[in-house]
Amino acid sequence: MITRRKALKALGISSLGAGTGLCIPSLTSAQGNSDSGNPLKIPPLAEGEFTGNARQFQLRLRRGSSNFFADTATATFGINGDYLGPTLRFRRNEAVSLHIQNALGEPTTLHWHGFHLPTSADGGPHEVIAIGDTWNPQFTVVQFAGTFWYHSHMLNTAGEQVYKGLAGMIIVEDDEQQIDLPSTYGVDDIPLLIQDRRFNDDGSFRYMSSYEDTVVGMRGDVILVNGTRHPYFVPTTKLVRFRLLNAANARTFVFAFNDGREFQQIASDGGYLESAVTMNRLELSPAERAEIVVDFSDGQDVRLISVGKVSNFPEFPGAMSVMMRSLNTQNFDILDIRGQGRLQDSAPVPDRLASIYRLPEAAATNTRTFRLSMGAGMRSGDDRGPGTGSRNGNGGGHGGGNFSINGRRMEMNYINERIQFNTTEIWELTNNSPMMHPFHVHNGQFQVLDRNGQQPPANEMGWKDTVRVGSGELVRIIMRFTDFIDDKNPYMYHCHILEHEDRGMMGQFLIIE
Ligand code: C2O
Ligand code: CU
Ligand code: CU
Repeated sequence: MITRRKALKALGISSLGAGTGLCIPSLTSAQGNSDSGNPLKIPPLAEGEFTGNARQFQLRLRRGSSNFFADTATATFGINGDYLGPTLRFRRNEAVSLHIQNALGEPTTLHWHGFHLPTSADGGPHEVIAIGDTWNPQFTVVQFAGTFWYHSHMLNTAGEQVYKGLAGMIIVEDDEQQIDLPSTYGVDDIPLLIQDRRFNDDGSFRYMSSYEDTVVGMRGDVILVNGTRHPYFVPTTKLVRFRLLNAANARTFVFAFNDGREFQQIASDGGYLESAVTMNRLELSPAERAEIVVDFSDGQDVRLISVGKVSNFPEFPGAMSVMMRSLNTQNFDILDIRGQGRLQDSAPVPDRLASIYRLPEAAATNTRTFRLSMGAGMRSGDDRGPGTGSRNGNGGGHGGGNFSINGRRMEMNYINERIQFNTTEIWELTNNSPMMHPFHVHNGQFQVLDRNGQQPPANEMGWKDTVRVGSGELVRIIMRFTDFIDDKNPYMYHCHILEHEDRGMMGQFLIIE
């Protein structure tokens, strides 16, 4: 048996704090934090109805009220419910038709994150659904089996709308890719839509209440999993598949179990990995997904946690150093697993899951560079390109949220890049700001070629649509631009820290003849 202390040491955790007392918000401390937990909510599964030649989904975006705390109500946004939306189940090679009604009382959009589809169905900032309007996008699902999501992409207010609840999970299934894995939704195939939230004492969400929020993005001190605060889950099978979705606005999580147990990652953003990767820590930045399989056959109580990162940001006078040094360093309890002895058998995870065609570098006919910046005041040190330690100077003041890519902020009427249809490109992502940015590209999945010249770890060798670009790093990705030509309507690329996206860290590309 491995002791708790040993396990923590193995994880590199010096002190995890006692019990649940890690990050007690003022509200919970006021009410006492003695509640014994809440059963993990499982979002309803929406499979749509197949009529005509497409699977039809009805989604109503509306306001709601949620009791994250027993005796306080929080005003929220929801999709067919009070907070978040149903899990949509799509099938590869099937058409879907989504009927979306905007009853929010404010304009919004709904984006299908990770999907390869025409711009008119993408749900980016150009496909606004006006107050009271409906929107009916249709597309054929060409994605591999995997875990995706949908969320608001409204220009400048995506962050606030997602924070309030405009998000949900999408599961793609593929009848031709049947792998013997836990796959009974809500039983041994469990969605975990993980978010951090901050509350006012009256129970309302507290959005953007400090200067820090405008710089590093909106974080909170209360974890919600599928909208459940302090959740627990009781396994009924020996193996459980968790579909981890970091649906936080800005926070990066490093998932682990508090006893240090290993688990297997079987899928990344765009589908299965070639084979399962055994690990005991898994880092996911906002919008990244991972499917993991965990063995609970020992019947023990165990806790899924997020381990605070250790900052190596230099210490110097001023607010920036303090902010960057504390960023993502907090520990959190994510999900209590209540062990039990009587568990159904599960088939072991197969050795091989998929074969992934690695896009050859030689196929690329063009290379572009994308420089992620946070404004002159935030840069600290000269921009001497990637890998040269752009954060070694003195920080000085912050320039007021000047988030940009290649020196430009998002403008609805400005097309940043034009890409030739049916080509493969390498995108070089650089970051001369003091913090990591999760870079996301619309219109499908890419592969990570390398990070600072090194081959990425095995769990980043599958299909991805969001990749972490750390401060001073150079990450190269490769992507194909096929199937959809549109010389008017663009796709987006952006930082998926939603407050950065909302403040300009986004650009647009066309795919042209
Ligand atoms: Cu998940 Cu452009 O977004
Ligand atoms: Cu997206
Ligand atoms: Cu960012």
